Amino acid sequence: MSRRVGILISGGGSNMVALVKSMTGDHPARPVLVLSNDPEAGGLAKAEALGVPTAVVDHRPFGKDRAGFEAELDRVLREAGVEIVCLAGFMRILTPGFTGKWAGRMLNIHPSLLPLYKGLHTYARALEAGDAEHGCTVHEVTAELDGGPILGQARIAIDKSDTPESLAARLLPMEHALYPAVLRRYAADDRRPVFLSAGTSALS
Ligand code: GAR
Repeated sequence: MSRRVGILISGGGSNMVALVKSMTGDHPARPVLVLSNDPEAGGLAKAEALGVPTAVVDHRPFGKDRAGFEAELDRVLREAGVEIVCLAGFMRILTPGFTGKWAGRMLNIHPSLLPLYKGLHTYARALEAGDAEHGCTVHEVTAELDGGPILGQARIAIDKSDTPESLAARLLPMEHALYPAVLRRYAADDRRPVFLSAGTSALS
């Protein structure tokens, strides 16, 4: 039986597309829902074009009622029979009430080498710090923002000429390699971390 994956997005959804395209053949999971908190998210049309059912739970009508927003998210995910949740550029902070319900069944991708640079503006922060490398991390989601157990990392070298934009553009293809590789293992109950670096495609 394939594991049923729901992917949460807020924007363009390029990681979502990479995940959806990876779940074919002998992959232990299948995408059953792409859900956005923003009805304008560009990823929704991409999911539809890929034949994946979509849903929108707009956070704005809920105002400050995070519990109400998350209860609706939870309801829609359960109605679709989702077993594993992948956050893929989902830009709402989730409260412990929600992360607790999905503990051990929810992943996130974050554009930094965690535990460095939790939160926003990770590329600029890595450049300001004079770091030699940057990267992305897939981790299990817990109540601590960007703080759960690390399931995989991909790294790239930082050039002297890099800007936040150039770094983000070079990192994105690494995200697209890392997240599917981690999900494939995770859906098979294999928690060994995946490590990738630019120029190599081998899994370790
Ligand atoms: C990705 O770079 C992802 O790592 C980042 O948002 C982008 C979404 O792009 N996520 C976060 O910053 C979460 N804190 P996408 O919509 O094209 O996948």
